[in-house]
Amino acid sequence: MIKVVLVKECYSTFTNRRIFPIVERYADRLVKTIDKELLDQSVDIKKFIAPYSLDVMTSTSFSVDTDSTANPEAPVNVNVQKFMKFKFWPFLVMLALPFTIRLFKWIGFSAVNKEAVKFFCGLIKRFKLEHKEDSSVHSDFLQLMVDSEIPESDIKDGVEPSKGLTHDEILAQALLFIFAGYDTTSTTLTYILYNLALNPDSLKTLQQEIDEHFPKDSPVSYEALMNVEYLDNVISECMRLLPTAPRLERVCKRNFNIDGINIPEGTLVTVPVNLIHRDPRFWSSPEVFKPERFSKDNKDDINPYAYMPFGLGPRNCVGMRFALMVTKMILVRLLQEYNVETCKDTSVPLEFSNIFLPKQPIKLKFSRREP
Ligand code: HEM
Repeated sequence: MIKVVLVKECYSTFTNRRIFPIVERYADRLVKTIDKELLDQSVDIKKFIAPYSLDVMTSTSFSVDTDSTANPEAPVNVNVQKFMKFKFWPFLVMLALPFTIRLFKWIGFSAVNKEAVKFFCGLIKRFKLEHKEDSSVHSDFLQLMVDSEIPESDIKDGVEPSKGLTHDEILAQALLFIFAGYDTTSTTLTYILYNLALNPDSLKTLQQEIDEHFPKDSPVSYEALMNVEYLDNVISECMRLLPTAPRLERVCKRNFNIDGINIPEGTLVTVPVNLIHRDPRFWSSPEVFKPERFSKDNKDDINPYAYMPFGLGPRNCVGMRFALMVTKMILVRLLQEYNVETCKDTSVPLEFSNIFLPKQPIKLKFSRREP
């Protein structure tokens, strides 16, 4: 538990204000690519947005200037794609037949791409060495963890002090930071743009708010970005209708009885977030896109346990504030200049696979806003 607290401290010390200019720079880079060849075309939105999300994650965590937007073949980008294509079926087999965990281990089978894991471990090790040699130039997430590293000499007979992070823990956290943030952020942004394209009136209201608070060609202020209301309402409503994490899981720590149902210790309990988010007992007209339900005037009517796009409780998403800032920044920069619309290749409604991923890539069109 102490370690969890320590990692959380690293997340909150790594304040969003500090990395704000980096995020703005990558948003500008991405928006510039639209005019080149994407305007008025059918665009695979996830593919378009993912490099922004990846560049933001890697540069803010390791102080490196990656540019996956301009160079999709960059090794970091290629290896992330490999890593994200993990096989899902072994998890189902392991859940149903726990003895297969040992079998998979024994035959050296891995659901994740080993080459990609090796690549990232090597990269993080190198960054870690550089950060150790000269901590003065870095103020990133990795530096915060390196500062709290437990020296090897403090680990006696495999027993580590309860405070501080070991080398392996730092490696694992750095990897987790990229992977927990990269795909979730780009998927969320894809769903937001899809909902805006389907709801042009909401798009217009949002663009009016953006024009009022964020003049074009001026830097975006952190306070303004985090405080504009309709943008926040739109994001919340999109995450209600299409939660990026449609299921949450917890393991029951002790025998528990709830409303006459006995849950034995060790049971895996699944929370169907996507169903709760559309349950008519908690939401009026749940299928309708209505950002206003999250407005200051209405949001007190929302049952806090019926809305959980970032999870709930002590193990909820530690990257939430960061993710919201990254999401808001690119939406402002994009919608200052462009409209997002459906096109001939847009699937309406979306069809989902059994792991709640869209069966077909989400395709939309960008057009230039009238001056
Ligand atoms: C819009 C983007 C994101 C969404 C929708 C999202 C959603 C979630 C959800 C649903 C959980 C599980 C919470 C629970 O079980 O109660 C989670 C956990 C987590 N997320 Fe995020 N996340 C996002 C972005 C990020 C980012 C950018 C980072 C890193 C900077 C991050 C880091 C983490 C970590 C480390 C955990 C595990 C926390 C723990 O186990 O204590 N997430 N996220």
